[in-house]
Amino acid sequence: MKSLLSSFVEASPLLSSIYRRYLGDREARLAHAIERMQRHISAGRYGKARRIQKCVELRFGVAISAEARIGKNLQMPHPIGVVIGRGAEIGDNVKIFQNVTIGRKKEACPKIGSGSILYSSSIVIGNIEIGENCIIGANSVVTKSVPSHTTVAGNPARVIVKSGRGP
Ligand SMILES: CC(C)(COP(=O)(O)OP(=O)(O)OC[C@H]1O[C@@H](n2cnc3c(N)ncnc32)[C@H](O)[C@@H]1OP(=O)(O)O)[C@@H](O)C(=O)NCCC(=O)NCCS
Repeated sequence: MKSLLSSFVEASPLLSSIYRRYLGDREARLAHAIERMQRHISAGRYGKARRIQKCVELRFGVAISAEARIGKNLQMPHPIGVVIGRGAEIGDNVKIFQNVTIGRKKEACPKIGSGSILYSSSIVIGNIEIGENCIIGANSVVTKSVPSHTTVAGNPARVIVKSGRGP
């Protein structure tokens, strides 16, 4: 019965949107709010995008600039304390854990490649590029670009796995 109901909800974009907006768990509701914010930005409706930005800050304790570009399917398993600054660019299928900061340094913000994972409390700042499928270890401070398929950790971050996805 439950799977019948969920397949019914998934088949309808409207029902699915209502479910994710009001009934889903924290992660689903946040993901839905971010998608709406991005849609408003793409359509040039910056006022609406900023209103959602404020709601997200109040409800989730997550600060995502309305001027950040977020790709599809951003995942935040524990959505709290995350800051994504103005001008940041996040690819598709990126996973961001609690208390991560993607921030500006000298007015420039990082680009995060698709499929990357930023573990808890990591800080990525400045005019740098994190490649695709990278892993940023917990508590790392990253101020230099990281090539694709690389795991970095520590402060300052150093490469610990050069190719492959890591764990
Ligand atoms: C980055 C990470 C994925 C690497 O895992 P791994 O590939 O298994 O790496 P290892 O544990 O074999 O460690 C390799 C080396 O990197 C160091 N290292 C690993 N993670 C580190 C980190 N976050 N900060 C500093 N050094 C780290 C290890 O001490 C080890 O150093 P050594 O070679 O001098 O002994 C993992 O350590 C990590 O940070 N995971 C985050 C988990 C997390 O945030 N979970 C929260 C979920 S809510």
